[in-house]
Amino acid sequence: MRKPFVGGNWKMNLDAAAARTLADELARTVAADGLDGFCDIAIFPPFVYIPAVLGVLRDRPSGIMLGAQDLWPGPAGAFTGEVSAAMLIDCGATVVLTGHSERRHVIGESDELINRKARAGLDAGLSVILCIGETLDQRTAGRTNQVNERQLRAGLAGVKPDQLVRLTIAYEPVWAIGTGKNATPADAQDAHAHCRAVLTSLFGNAAAASIRVQYGGSVKASNAAELFAQPDIDGGLIGGASLKADEFLGIVKAAAASSQAK
Ligand code: PGA
Repeated sequence: MRKPFVGGNWKMNLDAAAARTLADELARTVAADGLDGFCDIAIFPPFVYIPAVLGVLRDRPSGIMLGAQDLWPGPAGAFTGEVSAAMLIDCGATVVLTGHSERRHVIGESDELINRKARAGLDAGLSVILCIGETLDQRTAGRTNQVNERQLRAGLAGVKPDQLVRLTIAYEPVWAIGTGKNATPADAQDAHAHCRAVLTSLFGNAAAASIRVQYGGSVKASNAAELFAQPDIDGGLIGGASLKADEFLGIVKAAAASSQAK
């Protein structure tokens, strides 16, 4: 039985005051409704607002985890503009995204760099969400499963069995991110089932059955329930809809309900 996991990826949005307000609104409702009992929840502010959001989450305990959107794989040194796993932990983050579509396709990160980042996060003791997903061209060419398999195998090379409890996969078709066009529940389920088959071949049945695979790409409160009802979809990674408290909480509630229904 996998507990659903919903992440709010704030990307490069908000200012310090708005980040504090949003975190406070989320923490109040999650605590009041005990939502973290049914669903793991993390929010991913821009690096510079992590301390401000940590302050809010400490003042209002709710079980919401604090995450970062990226990290650099090295421990310290001449890497202008970058942030290490140890720095994230020092600032109170417990989870980090790696391989997000915008890092792959806008910034140009390779599978090899993403693998180093995932391993650095896990080696440092962070939980890691490895994001994967095909572009529209790749889907149209019938290469969805092949692309996801390549990104999974490359991204997870060298990950140790005892680290898998801290690993989550986010399947996010690139064409669905920020476009308002989510994958149909059936298409998403197909891709998730294939991802789980790849995880089985990498790590065995028991481990693959316990690793959560989130869906991401235009998830909203109105479409979350039908996506999360799919057997291999274990919550979601949310971009645009995570910037509005009501919308994000609606998604969290859909995930919590899905865990009781499954
Ligand atoms: P979106 O983004 O929800 O705005 O489509 C998802 C993501 O990038 O994780």
